[in-house]
Amino acid sequence: FATLLFGLIALCLTGCDGDTTTNVGKLTFQNELNIPPLLEPTVGSDGTKQFTLTMQTGTTEFFEGKKTPTWGINGSYLGPTIRVSRGDKVAFDVVNHLPETSTLHWHGMRLPAAMDGGPHQMIEAGSTWNPSWTIEQPAATTWYHPHLHGKTALHVYRGLAGLFLIEDQDSKKLPSNYGVDDIPIIIQDKMFNGDGSFNESMDLTPFGMLGNQILVNGTYDPYLRITSSQVRFRLLNGSNARAYHIGFSDNRSFYLVGNDAGLLPEPIKMKRILLSPGERAEIVIEFKEGEETILHSFAGKDGIENGEFDLVKLIADQRLTAATPLPQTLTSEPPIEVPADAKVRTFVLTTESAINGKKMDMNRIDEVVPARSREIWEITNKGWDHNFHIHDATFTILDKNGELPPKYERGRKDTVFIPSGTKVRLAVDFGSYPDPTTPYMYHCHLLYHEDSGMMGQFVIVEPGTESQVSQQLHQRP
Ligand code: C2O
Ligand code: CU
Repeated sequence: FATLLFGLIALCLTGCDGDTTTNVGKLTFQNELNIPPLLEPTVGSDGTKQFTLTMQTGTTEFFEGKKTPTWGINGSYLGPTIRVSRGDKVAFDVVNHLPETSTLHWHGMRLPAAMDGGPHQMIEAGSTWNPSWTIEQPAATTWYHPHLHGKTALHVYRGLAGLFLIEDQDSKKLPSNYGVDDIPIIIQDKMFNGDGSFNESMDLTPFGMLGNQILVNGTYDPYLRITSSQVRFRLLNGSNARAYHIGFSDNRSFYLVGNDAGLLPEPIKMKRILLSPGERAEIVIEFKEGEETILHSFAGKDGIENGEFDLVKLIADQRLTAATPLPQTLTSEPPIEVPADAKVRTFVLTTESAINGKKMDMNRIDEVVPARSREIWEITNKGWDHNFHIHDATFTILDKNGELPPKYERGRKDTVFIPSGTKVRLAVDFGSYPDPTTPYMYHCHLLYHEDSGMMGQFVIVEPGTESQVSQQLHQRP
């Protein structure tokens, strides 16, 4: 009997319920939540912070006694957290110790296209890429991950991703003691084979991989000890396709303090926030001594919101460090306002993995955007669920199907969920680094869709030079 029971547990841990969409009731919250380490830079004589990131293969023990082949950055799964301040100069050695070409993209970063780490900045196996730039944007929770065209889903799924935090005077007024009251929460769904290896069927559903098990910061079945009466979570949906309706099992309220691209003007009290792949949110939660709750994802509509999951159990100590009240003004960054005669560009998404009927072509420039411009991008989804991310840009959502977006989506963003049948209008603030020959990407962040061609390219040019840009890029040697 014991053998049978053990066999059942072992099987169920690793996917005997392969087509279910919940883990509720199946977890025992046994493993302490991993906190990705902060990466220490070396500081050059001119103040440049120099970081080394090494992409490598390895194995990770998510389940006791099972070794899962994984990829990671400076480790076997995920990567370290990078934390810098607005105004810092940063430089990287991105070393590729993988058996194949990859790239490393800085999602949410405003920087020159040649530093962006998109599909054009390939890093061959055994080589090193050296991007550098100056951090010129407000505090935000950004992240990094590979972006090799056709392979992004697989590379991210195997474990290549990490957080990149930008701090400024405003963000330091929030809980900022990393790993203590400022906690990264990277949510990823997976599907495991019986031997503990990842099921790597990137085309498992029309959306790509929708897993039935959850890893938070690369930890299966996690708990977190809470030691302060006020804790900030930096939520990242680092999944390939799944969306999460995040809240707490006891239905408590929390404060939303930031979206993808930075802090809100003031905290907003709420109970649920929906995050699609690539989106981030910063929330602040208040705890009482000795209490317990579970960070939970509630089931939503069909499509990529259909699952229900326990994410991480939170156990407050009997004695908590008392916190100061949240500031009522979080940031004074002005809202993004578009001029009355702003250029409007329209995009249509369908069930084909294409944008405006076109599949991604590395040699085609789809849009030419003047530097520092503000435009309205109108995106209509006539297919199944998608989302939309624009590199090197910050936007706010003007409306969704003609109405103001929900409160949790009114801040500064770089990625937006566009459920089936939805039309969004975005007020987009574009970058300031003209380069007519190196494109930035816009794409669906359901990684299987992106890999299948749901991506387009735009260049940023000096205003007035738009007509001089060649629509064809020449293949690099
Ligand atoms: Cu997070 Cu173009 O990607
Ligand atoms: Cu999509």
